[in-house]
Amino acid sequence: MSASTVVLITGASAGIGAYVAKEYATRGAKLILTARRKKRLEELAAECERLSPKCEAIAVPVDVTKEDDLTEAVAAGVEKFGKVDCVIANAGFSVLGEVENLTIADYERQFDTNIYGVLRTFYAAIKQLKKYKGRFVIVGSVNSYITLPTASPYCMSKFAVRALAEALYSELKSHGVSTTLVCPGFVDSEIRQVDNSGTHHPEAKDLVPAWICMPTDVAARKIVRAVEARKREYVFTGHGKFFVALRQQANWIFQLLIALFASRLIKRREIDKSLPHMERG
Ligand SMILES: NC(=O)c1ccc[n+]([C@@H]2O[C@H](COP(=O)([O-])OP(=O)(O)OC[C@H]3O[C@@H](n4cnc5c(N)ncnc54)[C@H](OP(=O)(O)O)[C@@H]3O)[C@@H](O)[C@H]2O)c1
Repeated sequence: MSASTVVLITGASAGIGAYVAKEYATRGAKLILTARRKKRLEELAAECERLSPKCEAIAVPVDVTKEDDLTEAVAAGVEKFGKVDCVIANAGFSVLGEVENLTIADYERQFDTNIYGVLRTFYAAIKQLKKYKGRFVIVGSVNSYITLPTASPYCMSKFAVRALAEALYSELKSHGVSTTLVCPGFVDSEIRQVDNSGTHHPEAKDLVPAWICMPTDVAARKIVRAVEARKREYVFTGHGKFFVALRQQANWIFQLLIALFASRLIKRREIDKSLPHMERG
């Protein structure tokens, strides 16, 4: 990576986005850190600058459901650093619940952030990326391949961005712009403490056991390596790779496992729903 790389990250105030920022900081990149929670971004910007004397970081409040916010973030990056040549479309959350208990509004809210948020990020940055033969990165998920009961809005959104990434890879290649889809399995972050309306509840318990979650710094390092290598796609965490391969190579076994676990998952969501802080569908 050239020390002058300018990286814009959406969803940098927590989890994967924050650690990707720190990983780029140690590599001396210039950073445009975006998300809705400004104070967190400012603290992260200061931390990134402490990690490397070469790193400079700015905090720009952005809601990815608002097109103007993204246009302004790219403009702020160009004004401060002269260009934007790497964009990580990472902001996301999950709307959960059985289809029957959800509404169109739940799906729209999910797609507005997880799909249209990625598209808004792309449209805001594409001129810069073409000019500097840059990198566009979409944070998908193992759920870009695997659908789980009670997670249809999230899985649909992640399937959609996989389709988008595949189209973009071919469309942008001749312009020298790479598109990388990263598909993590479980990674330690705040995502499982965020309710169906996108509000974070720090007191909520992460129901995914810690032992299965990849540490966020490890995940961030893997993501940055894949982006630097301009990989088309990168599926990671051991369990993530295993289940994607199983779904592709032996779908009947995968579906058997889903059938075995479906009732447990649905029961668990029922418990979630009874907790006022989660307000799951
Ligand atoms: N952790 C996992 O196990 C896992 C696995 C596969 C894929 N992923 C994907 O990884 C990405 C990052 O998630 P995470 O696990 O790091 O979750 P996280 O810790 O909850 O972080 C999510 C980030 O997205 C931001 N965000 C959410 N809605 C936004 C909006 N409307 N506008 C701008 N920013 C928004 C949040 O910031 P603000 O609230 O401050 O806006 C936060 O910085 C997501 O796309 C997620 O689907 C995560």
